Amino acid sequence: MKHIFQKGKDPSKPTLLLLHGTGGTEKDLLPLAGMVDEDASVLSVRGNVLENGMPRFFRRLAEGVFDEEDLIFRTAELKQFLDDSAEQYRFDRQNVIAIGYSNGANIAASLLFHYQNALKAAILHHPMVPRRGIELPDLSGTSIFIAAGTNDPICASEESTELQALLEKANASVKLHWEDRGHQLTAAEVEAAAQWYQQLS
Ligand code: MLT
Repeated sequence: MKHIFQKGKDPSKPTLLLLHGTGGTEKDLLPLAGMVDEDASVLSVRGNVLENGMPRFFRRLAEGVFDEEDLIFRTAELKQFLDDSAEQYRFDRQNVIAIGYSNGANIAASLLFHYQNALKAAILHHPMVPRRGIELPDLSGTSIFIAAGTNDPICASEESTELQALLEKANASVKLHWEDRGHQLTAAEVEAAAQWYQQLS
C-alpha cells in the first residue's frame, strides 16, 4: 500500500497508524500525529480503492452503505500490510495505535471488529458501525477513543453510541467524546484525543 513511514525518536513509543478520510492521502493526518505524540513512529497509509478519483479504504454502494465483501477483503489487506511493515521497519507490532478519520476510522473499526490484537488502541474520529451481526474478538486491554458530532449528517448519534456499546461488549475500554458539530474533524476533538492518549499506559 502507498504509505509514509517516519521512525520516531523514542523506540519504546507506539507506532501511530494514520488512516485518512475519503478523498484524502497519506499526507493528510501527519499534523495530527505530531499533536498526539511527536516522539512516536508514524505509518500513514493511502487507501487502495478509488471512488471517482478519491482514495478510500474500501468500496461503498452508496453514502453510508458499505460493500461488505470489499470491506472484509480490504481489512485483511490492511492487517497484512501492518504485519509486513512491522518486519520491514522493525517496529513493535503489538504497539500500534490507529488514528483514523471518517472512512479511515471505519477501516480501523473494522480491524477491531475482525481481528484480536490488530491494534493496541485506536482514536476514531467520526466512525460508523463497520458491520452488524458478527461476533467481535475479545478486545480486553484495547483502549478506544471515539469523537462524534451531535449533528453529524453521515453518522447519527445513535450509531456512535451503538459502536461504543458493541466495542464495550467485546471488553474494550471506550471513551466517547461529543462535539456539538457535524462530520468535520475539529481542533477541539484532536486536543481531547491527545489528552486521552497521554493517559494510556
Ligand atoms: C464511509 O464511506 O466510510 C463513510 O460514509 C464516511 C465517508 O464519507 O468516508
